[in-house]
Amino acid sequence: MEGCDEEDSLEVPELPLESPHVYNKNKGIDLAVPILLIVVYILSFLQTSDRKEASLVCRSWYIASQDLCFQKNAIFCFPASASSLELVRSLGRRSRCSLIISQLDGFSLSRSLLLEVGLCVGSKLDSLALPGSSVTEASLLALLPRLTSLRRLDLRGLDSLFMSGAFLSRKEHRQQVKSALSSLEELDLSDLRYLSDLTFNRLTSCTPRLRRLSLAGCHIAFEFDPYRGCPVGTVEVSSALLSLRNLRKLLTEQSATLVALDLSRTAIAPESLRRIAQVEGVSLEELCLQSCKELTDYSVEVLVKHQPGLRKLDIGGCTELTGRAVVAVARSLSSLTHLSLSRDWRVTETGLADLVSVASLRGLDLSECLHVGGAEMVKGLSQCLAERAQLEKLNLRSCTYMRDEAVFSLTQLLGTALRELDLTSCVNVTDLSVRAIATYLRGLVVLRLGWCKEVTDWGLLGMVETSTCELDEEKEDKGPRFTRTFGNMGFFKPPRLPFEERPKLVTPDDLEQFKRQAGVSLLALVRLRELNLSSCYKLTDGSITQVVRFTDLRHLSLSSLPGITDASLSAVARHCRALTGLELSHCARISDRGVAQAAPHLHRLQHLYLSGCNSITDKSLFLLAQHCKRLKTLDVSKCDNISGSAMEHLQSQLPFLEKVHYKLPGGTDFTTLI
Ligand SMILES: *[C@@H]1O[C@H](CO)[C@@H](O)[C@H](O)[C@H]1NC(C)=O
Ligand SMILES: *[C@@H]1O[C@H](CO)[C@@H](O)[C@H](O)[C@H]1NC(C)=O
Ligand SMILES: *[C@@H]1O[C@H](CO)[C@@H](O)[C@H](O)[C@H]1NC(C)=O
Repeated sequence: MEGCDEEDSLEVPELPLESPHVYNKNKGIDLAVPILLIVVYILSFLQTSDRKEASLVCRSWYIASQDLCFQKNAIFCFPASASSLELVRSLGRRSRCSLIISQLDGFSLSRSLLLEVGLCVGSKLDSLALPGSSVTEASLLALLPRLTSLRRLDLRGLDSLFMSGAFLSRKEHRQQVKSALSSLEELDLSDLRYLSDLTFNRLTSCTPRLRRLSLAGCHIAFEFDPYRGCPVGTVEVSSALLSLRNLRKLLTEQSATLVALDLSRTAIAPESLRRIAQVEGVSLEELCLQSCKELTDYSVEVLVKHQPGLRKLDIGGCTELTGRAVVAVARSLSSLTHLSLSRDWRVTETGLADLVSVASLRGLDLSECLHVGGAEMVKGLSQCLAERAQLEKLNLRSCTYMRDEAVFSLTQLLGTALRELDLTSCVNVTDLSVRAIATYLRGLVVLRLGWCKEVTDWGLLGMVETSTCELDEEKEDKGPRFTRTFGNMGFFKPPRLPFEERPKLVTPDDLEQFKRQAGVSLLALVRLRELNLSSCYKLTDGSITQVVRFTDLRHLSLSSLPGITDASLSAVARHCRALTGLELSHCARISDRGVAQAAPHLHRLQHLYLSGCNSITDKSLFLLAQHCKRLKTLDVSKCDNISGSAMEHLQSQLPFLEKVHYKLPGGTDFTTLI
């Protein structure tokens, strides 16, 4: 082939196939390799959802998509129904799989379904969850002994199982379950109202090597047994409550393996946390204490002192915590990778410089920490550049003190390592921040700017507002404001910036200088998969039609943008064909015309929100029924001109439709779950 005469100019990644598949690395793909293997190879470049789509192309592609190399982490999620029996039987051919079965009840269909799971996939099941179910003890006991290689069991909210207190009360049942589950690693017992010491001990005696345990939302008696009127510690084993004493006993017994614990939404008190942190031999790597409102700074100090190996810590919604807790975390947890301080509204700048200096930190959630303005983070990140954190996820939602200076400095310091940035409701952030993001954060996959209401088209286009600064090329240009000049701006060329060498907190002077330079447009963020610009009121077609062009974009939110019209919808559909979710609610100027132009390009669309788009009529529904066959969610509530018959037509045409919001001609809004 012309242009690639050098043999190694085509980099062929390792074939994802195990022997005995024929692949000769020096000669490339052997011609004798059946076409199937080549298809398998091609499919290996796709994401799971795309592979699923590709498997529908033809029979050989379907067979290729079933190759073992794709099956490692396949999770099947379905409600209990007659047709799911068939599905479960077909799963028997797989080497490994995970199941999430919802809506199981005590009736015979559910019983036979669980029986079938045991028979067909029992020894191959990796993980099992039964959300929103009310299974009986008998049907679960018929299943568990067959799950001989189960790693994860999720019994969240299954009150039906624990209400009587008799679960696993018979020794022979425990022996059967134990011999199957002895290598279970993860047990989720969250939101169980009736869990007691007795049932907890029976169950965990069958799972002696847990790595992860969740008791979030359980009623744990940390200090005082209200039934007996005495401190919990003095009662041996309670049949009515799960006690701290008993939990500590489990931690001691399984300390060799246990590394992750979730006690979110419990009433854990500082003293109880201290006693858990001090259990001998326990060395936790992950601890989740979300919304444990009793916790104090002191308890966090004690925690990190005794558990210095913590890597992931979630203390979001612990509203008593202040900067003192942040300082303690930063100083003691030298291998911290993820921290959530979300909704800890008393947290201020204090300690954040130390925190972002923890070199291992990858994810930081400061959403709704209303007093955080970013200055300390900038300080921390600019000191000792080599050893600072390589943050990948940063959530600053509703940090209303965030301003351009801080965003600007942060983008420079974080650079291409950052994958996710949430600046939702950072209301004082302006175009300058958007340009800085486009300039420095080229690795972004998720960008959320909802409610950044100062952001305008100029920011997205990476342009200097012509009224404040006239560019030479533009002087004689009397054409349309954006489209004519768009080509001249060198969109992918990062501008030379005044403070490239030594990042620091930018001064108003620096910003003034940046303001006068043309920059990079949002187009530079070529890896974006999720973009949220909802309620950035000032945006219009001028930018949306030009810069929302991302081949990998899956989710786009443009709700509440009164300035955008059908032109935006049409352009977005043409340039972002991978979209699976599109939010356009309360965009009053979107009409059937836009839907007509967009729908033929949006084959993959699964979730569409058009609430309050009053110019949308039955016509749009017919177009959607014709083109968007994968639609699962449709919101056309507050669209007055939609008729019941068009809605029925849509529902009859779309096989995957699950959820519809619309308004009957009579008046009331309806949500239909099909
Ligand atoms: C930040 O935004 C709020 C709300 O838009 C505004 O009232 C306030 O003046 C802004 N603060 C600064 C310093 O610009
Ligand atoms: C986009 O942002 C808006 C406003 O913050 C929010 O309501 C909406 O849920 C977001 N959409 C997605 C897909 O996250
Ligand atoms: C909606 O229907 C009403 C009455 O049927 C009509 O007056 C109105 O023009 C319609 N609106 C649109 C956008 O078609």
